Order: sequence, then structure tokens, then C-alpha cells
Amino acid sequence: MKFSKALLFFVLVVALIAIVGCASATPAAQPPAASSAAPASSAASQAAAKTYKDMTLCYPQLGAESDWRTANTASFKETAQTLGIKQLVFSDAQQKQENQISAVRACIQQKVDVIALPPVVEDGWDAVLNEAKNAKIPVIVVDRSVSADKSLYASHIGSDMVLEGERAAAEFNKMMPNGGAVLELSGTTGSGAAVGRAKGFRNKINANIKILDSQTGNFTRAEAVPVMQAFLKKYKAGTDFQGIFIHNDDMGIGAIEALKAAGVKPGDLKIVSVDGTRGGFQAMVDGWFQADVECNPLLGPQVFEMALKLMNGQTIDREVLTNETVYYPDKAKDLLPTRKY
Ligand code: AHR
Repeated sequence: MKFSKALLFFVLVVALIAIVGCASATPAAQPPAASSAAPASSAASQAAAKTYKDMTLCYPQLGAESDWRTANTASFKETAQTLGIKQLVFSDAQQKQENQISAVRACIQQKVDVIALPPVVEDGWDAVLNEAKNAKIPVIVVDRSVSADKSLYASHIGSDMVLEGERAAAEFNKMMPNGGAVLELSGTTGSGAAVGRAKGFRNKINANIKILDSQTGNFTRAEAVPVMQAFLKKYKAGTDFQGIFIHNDDMGIGAIEALKAAGVKPGDLKIVSVDGTRGGFQAMVDGWFQADVECNPLLGPQVFEMALKLMNGQTIDREVLTNETVYYPDKAKDLLPTRKY
């Protein structure tokens, strides 16, 4: 009897240790991804909080016209994968607004959770934005802006294109204190990027610097070459114009090709470009660009974060502008290997 009481005590102690041990070895339940941002007071809304695993996000990309765009697409695809979202509905509109509009309509049909729209041009979005609104699908305008009423979309995340143009003008003002003439190789006609950069440039360029001519190269290397060739037929480099403001690095690289073929050498002209891609950095190392105004394409993480907030009915900022800078040749060689795009 004495023995069996001792045995019973021993068994109880072992069982207790086993229970405590098991409990502490059980992994803590993972909180839903958005729970930290959900209102602390509402237990019900926490329980219902959506996570990235619930998200179907539509990204009707405008095209593949530049290295900037390639990096932007990669940023969205990589972020979607890292966060483990349910589905990224991606398409490439090949720089055609009608293709983008069709892609948005297909996403509305599919009842995606959020549409992130990088609009190729500013105008002409009202109808389809209204359709998304009626279907209760929030739209985040990404990268370039739209002229549509702000009530038709949730937010805009992207660069301050006007500021980029102003920054480019400031570089010419520094380099050409005695004035002169510059050419402008502009981006896609009617795009928020081209409109904003042109506006900013005109806002800040000194009165003694004349904008001799402005033509579009549609943000592509291939289209910039004939535009630069035509400029060089019309105007003498160094005499009729001393500088070129180029709206992106890809067009800058195309322009360099045309300038080289015409016998122009690095440093004969002042050239300021926009983006800060590896190609732009190489052009600074080679002595062609005197400055490269940053336009950051890595917008994926911010957009997905905002999309999740929208899915959970949380408050968001109506405008999120990327913090950017200007790069110069003196640091270009050191920075080039660190560039992500
Ligand atoms: O809208 C951003 C612009 O589009 C980038 O400057 C350009 O490279 C891209 O094509």
C-alpha cells in the first residue's frame, strides 16, 4: 500500500512535467500579417483581418519600354512572391492605353481585391475608374499620375515628376551660368512623367537658357536615336545648343549613340538625364551625363502594404511621394556596382 501511494505520486509528477513540457514546446500561433496595424480595441476586426495570403492584386503594367520599367515589374513580382500573396494578376499593355483599360476591366470581372494602376498617360481614365469604384475595388495609382478626379481612386504612390524636372533645371543653371540653349528629349506624350518633368524644367530654368527644341522619344532607346539624329541635322552641337535635358536614361543612351555617330565627344555638351539606372551611371562614368536625377522604380513593397490596409479598411495616405536625390559623376564609379536596377 505504501509502495502504491509512492508510485501514484511519482506517476502524477511525471505526468505534470510532461504536460508543462509539451505546452512550452508548442509553437505560438502566428498573428495575422495585418494584426499589428488593426485597431487594438476591436477583437472582432482583428479576427477578420485579411492577410497577404488572401490578396489578389491586379497590376496592368504599362509596358516594357525602359530599364526603369523592367525594374518596376521585377519589384512587383518579387514582392508578391516574398509576401506570399494569393495571386498577382500581371499584364503588359505595350504602352497602349486601350490595352491597359481592357486589362483593368478584366480585373474588375475577376473581382480582384485591389488594382494598382501605372497609367501610361494622364487623361482618359474616368470611365474605367468609375467602373472599379462601382465594383468596390480600390485603385492605387502607381508611378505616373492621372488627371481623373481624386474621388475615383484611393491613393497615388510614385515620384514627384515636377520636382524631377526642377532638379534637372537646377543642374543646367549651375553648369551654364552665362546662359545658352538646350534641347529637350521628352518622354511619352501625355504621360504624367513627361508632363511633370517638362513643367518642372520650365518652372526653374534660368531666363538666359533657351529651350531650343523639344521632341518625344517615347521613353525608349530605339525611338531616341532618330530624334537625336534629326536634332543634329537641324542644329549644330556646341554652337546652336550646349546642353540636352533627356527625360530618361534609356533615351539618353540612344542619344549618346547618335551623338557618337555624329562625332560629338563626351563633355562637348552638358547632358542631364532622369532615372539613375545602371545605364545612366555608366553614362556618367563615361563622361556623357553631368547629372542623373533619381526616379525610383522599386515601388512594390509600399504598394502591397497599402493594398493590405485597403483590404482591411484601414486609413491610408492619399498621396505618397518617393524620397529621391540627384546623382553625379564623381561618385558614379563607386556607386555603380551597388545599383539595384
Ligand atoms: O514613369 C516613369 C518613367 O517611365 C521613367 O522615368 C522611365 O524610364 C519610364 O519609362
